Amino acid sequence: MFRDIDKVLIGRERIAERVHELGAQIAQDLQRELGDDGDHTGEIVLVSVLTGSIVFVADLIRQLPVKLSLGLVAVSSYPGTSMESKGAMLRSELPKNLTGKHVLVVDDILDSGQTLDVLSRLILEQKPASLRLAVLLRKPGKAKVAVKVDYVGFDIPDEFVVGYGLDYDGFYRNYPEIATLKPEVALRSTGG
Ligand code: IMP
Ligand code: MG
Repeated sequence: MFRDIDKVLIGRERIAERVHELGAQIAQDLQRELGDDGDHTGEIVLVSVLTGSIVFVADLIRQLPVKLSLGLVAVSSYPGTSMESKGAMLRSELPKNLTGKHVLVVDDILDSGQTLDVLSRLILEQKPASLRLAVLLRKPGKAKVAVKVDYVGFDIPDEFVVGYGLDYDGFYRNYPEIATLKPEVALRSTGG
């Protein structure tokens, strides 16, 4: 299976280093939000956008020494072998009772921006105390809708990537680095 990998864009050490840095920055911001008396003035809910963010979230939450709970939301925008966003669609209910809470939404990648745009609108309807958005990767210049992301791990070129949670047609999420696929893999699975 890993024979399908073409080239590694971001290796595991760089990912680990950056996740550590992001964690420190996010923890500091959240701690400031909670105020001096720590977890008594507010509550943090981290919303993980399934499925692509799970590896990033697993690593990130262990860098956040704050009291938080984990919410999950399923959104799909790249059905099957598609390499183009087909518009974000909610596939599960949003976590409830976000009212008055400090919400941090974590996704794997910001591409067209539609996933995070749709999600932030829905979350804001619940009137959270604050809303922050974090993504591991961003493809600059691809956004179709303007989304203000608070934390970005890496800006990457406009190439389709897999690994560290990101998939192609459901596969390669377990590849430990961010990588591109050999062109013939996509052609093979779309039959084109
Ligand atoms: P957006 O809604 O277009 O911003 O797309 C975000 C979602 O599309 C992410 O949560 C990913 O699941 C998926 N996605 C976008 N680009 C890639 C990619 O290069 N590889 C794998 N999944 C991607
Ligand atoms: Mg995906």
